Amino acid sequence: MPKPLLEALRGKTLPRPPFWFMRQAGRYLPEYRALREKAGSFLDLCLTPAHAIEVTLQPLRRFSMDGAILFSDILMVPMALGRDLRFSEGKGPILNPLRREGDIPKFDPDAFDRRLSPVYETVAGIKEALDDKTALIGFAGAPWTVASYMVEGGTSRDFFQVKSWAYERPAEFGRLIDGLVEATAHYLVRQIEAGAEALQIFDSWAGVLSHSQLLRWSLRPIQEIVARVRQIHPEVPIIVFPKGVGVAYIDFCNPDFCDALSLDSGMPRQWAKENLQAKVTLQGNLDPLALVSGGNAMVAEARDILERFGAGPFIFNLGHGIVPETPLENVATLCDFIRNWQSHGT
Ligand code: CP3
Repeated sequence: MPKPLLEALRGKTLPRPPFWFMRQAGRYLPEYRALREKAGSFLDLCLTPAHAIEVTLQPLRRFSMDGAILFSDILMVPMALGRDLRFSEGKGPILNPLRREGDIPKFDPDAFDRRLSPVYETVAGIKEALDDKTALIGFAGAPWTVASYMVEGGTSRDFFQVKSWAYERPAEFGRLIDGLVEATAHYLVRQIEAGAEALQIFDSWAGVLSHSQLLRWSLRPIQEIVARVRQIHPEVPIIVFPKGVGVAYIDFCNPDFCDALSLDSGMPRQWAKENLQAKVTLQGNLDPLALVSGGNAMVAEARDILERFGAGPFIFNLGHGIVPETPLENVATLCDFIRNWQSHGT
């Protein structure tokens, strides 16, 4: 039996769409919080294969999603390129800000793979533990989003430093982006070789760019990564998540570019159905806060998503990651609702 998630990614419409949730492993799960405490830090959790495998499997034991996503972080790439990275409690990631051309890291594949060998080991361990209907999703951040963390030194409100660099010295900034393209394509190929069956590329901050900058710093680098990965592993489907880009989803919507587009919660569903779903598989787009609230409001949103997208190739997901405040019973209710939904041929 082929895995439903992979079938949907290959363009098949299934009677009941497969589902998984961004950040399905995380602080809303008590067993995650317990292991995180034991591991000491988030980075230790990511870089200890036995722990990272366990955390990846935790949500599947409770909710049997159709996909398992590697437990790691998009900032493993800058770390493996030699940048300092730590996660501070309550403040998110902190990196040493990259502001000068001379500090742009050079990609050394051997050093990179040495630093990321625990991640590759984790991928192989998850693959071994999965049953024959659950697909393993590998991932990476898109160059623009990863560069924004590297240049700003963490999460940003206005992206002042990274945008100024891109506008004022584009050739130099292009060298940072090109280095990330090379490292990220290499990293994704390694994940496939360790056992990943599908990939997602997260461009969480694509939505802050002007349209011309979006094409240059978000779309083009992702296109280059996809081309490189497909050259070696054309069989592995790739999901792209250009969060917050509105009607510019059209620019990303091309089967030569990706197999599926993940939709943020703000994307009007009827527009997406009419303009995107004939060309690529869609994924999304329940508001993570609807999952926190639960009840009728959540079910109404989930029903609308399934009615709107269920007649075409579709994967149910959220519009962004699960938040720590999410009640477990709401996740259980949502999973049951999706599982029991049947397309009426609309
Ligand atoms: O989805 C999954 O379950 C797989 C694991 C995963 C994590 N991060 C684990 C994580 C994935 C796919 C990511 C991607 C990621 N990381 C993105 C892209 C998606 C998005 O959310 O936009 C980004 C921008 C990051 C960077 C990052 N990592 C931030 C800004 C933070 C702090 C915010 C927060 O939620 O604490 C992290 C930490 C992080 N990554 C946690 C988890 C489970 C929380 C760590 C903890 O304290 O236990």
